[in-house]
Amino acid sequence: MTRTLLVTGGAGFIGGNFVRDAIADGHRVINLDALTYAGNLANLADVERLPGYRFVHGDVCDAALLRQLLVDEAIDCIVHCAAESHVDRSILGPAAFVHTNVHGSFVLLEAAREAWGRDAGGKRFLHVSTDEVFGSLDPEEPAFREDTPYRPNSPYSASKAGSDHLARAYFHTFGLPVLVTHCSNNYGPYQFPEKLIPLTILHALRGDPLPVYGDGQHVRDWLYVEDHCAALDCVLSRGRPGDTYNIGGGNQWPNLRIVERICDRLDARLPAARPRRELIRFVDDRPGHDRRYAMDTGKIERELGWGPRHRFDTGLDATIDWYVANRRWCEQVQSGLYREYLATQYEARLQA
Ligand code: NAD
Ligand code: DAU
Repeated sequence: MTRTLLVTGGAGFIGGNFVRDAIADGHRVINLDALTYAGNLANLADVERLPGYRFVHGDVCDAALLRQLLVDEAIDCIVHCAAESHVDRSILGPAAFVHTNVHGSFVLLEAAREAWGRDAGGKRFLHVSTDEVFGSLDPEEPAFREDTPYRPNSPYSASKAGSDHLARAYFHTFGLPVLVTHCSNNYGPYQFPEKLIPLTILHALRGDPLPVYGDGQHVRDWLYVEDHCAALDCVLSRGRPGDTYNIGGGNQWPNLRIVERICDRLDARLPAARPRRELIRFVDDRPGHDRRYAMDTGKIERELGWGPRHRFDTGLDATIDWYVANRRWCEQVQSGLYREYLATQYEARLQA
């Protein structure tokens, strides 16, 4: 069925990949993005002239703009990806996280309630959330389920948890057809190089130190971004309003192993004077660093028939190859502001 989607944060990593897929599936897409440091229209250069696509430069906190878009564009689905998304930045400056993730989600929920009213039949509001709201697992603990209690540990995850609670309340109180997804760590093309995998690839290509927090044994469950987007599409088309769905890759890898694999892959493709593993530096840990995430994805597999298609080793190799092949994109996103961020986040740690 062809729909008209409002995708917020569509110039970011996951939003951009989702927009491309939705257009390919024949949907009309309005991409609303404030173009923060993480938003980049170059991510969608290949679709920007297609008739089913419109970009709107705007903020999810702008209630009047949202109301106007929802009515004028006859939006029937909202896919809410816009967020401040980086845990380290939430430690450096939490305010933007509360503003965009909590207040922005509230403004968007309110605008949808007003535009769709009580007659929201057929409409869908998909709130894209994270596994981090469930806190941290010990090595032997079972994976997070949809009914695992919330225990957010960082300002980022706390702000996402706040928005999840608002989304839930809008379903229960106002009948807004809200669905919430909790996904694990994504990787793939167009990810901003503040996150572990693209940061490691770009540093390794330049011969810069590769910062590994703490002992490098923190575990994340990695999912290729295309698989996340396919899961979002499943939830949008077949999910039950009011329900939440866990999404994950079933790939639990310690950080150090990922960094080593990136080094080895690059050494094989583009040999350097010395093995890139020699660039690895163990640095001061992230404050409040969650030890392990893992997702139980039984519900979405059973009820909606979704499962990941990409294996982690081949997906990681494809991602490394994408960054090697897209050097212009990489140069463009490594602006002065980005270099300032790297200095703030890493300089003292690397000298310690
Ligand atoms: P990202 O940082 O790459 O992109 C975020 C996008 O939101 C950017 O384009 C940015 O310009 C836009 N944005 C920020 N503030 C805005 C505002 N006030 N108004 C409008 N647009 C704004 O993030 P991502 O990694 O693509 O994550 C997208 C969503 O998925 C987030 O909600 C995040 O919490 C969630 N998520 C991410 C992951 C992951 O591994 N990256 C995993 C699970 C869930
Ligand atoms: O779990 C889902 C979440 O995954 C999303 O909700 C977030 O938006 C996304 O940023 C991601 O959060 P993480 O904090 O897990 O991702 P990040 O890439 O920042 O870090 C991954 C792991 O690598 C984490 O244990 C910290 C570690 N790390 C990270 C960086 C940037 C390092 O050791 N060194 C680094 O330089």
